[in-house]
Amino acid sequence: MATWDLRGMKHHVLICNGGTCLRHGGDDVTTAVREEIARLGLDDAVHTTRTRCNGRCQDACVMIVYPDGVWYRQMTPEKAKEVARVHLGEGVPLREWATYEYEGELVLTPIGEREAASGKRKNEHIEKGASR
Ligand code: FES
Repeated sequence: MATWDLRGMKHHVLICNGGTCLRHGGDDVTTAVREEIARLGLDDAVHTTRTRCNGRCQDACVMIVYPDGVWYRQMTPEKAKEVARVHLGEGVPLREWATYEYEGELVLTPIGEREAASGKRKNEHIEKGASR
């Protein structure tokens, strides 16, 4: 699992570990998807996070994949492994198991590198404001 250096990260998986999702196998889903990510050699490309309730308990167990913003419902360990293989591994969301998906693009860049690339200094906006 990517943890410290996120530059190689392609997906962030939020696994609901709220009360309802835990009663619907959230722990097993968490273990299954993490084991499958490791087995597929995707540790540097995928970061996973256990969350509290995501507000869609009727869909328990919920798992969300960003940057695609695909909200998966009724995950089981077997479905979670399939999401790891097909969505995280091949880049193909399994829409038949999803309730929503985000349309757009997010790019993660370390903040210091982004500022350096754009030629802006960290406090440039403050300095501009102070000169008025
Ligand atoms: S506990 Fe998972 S959505 Fe509410």
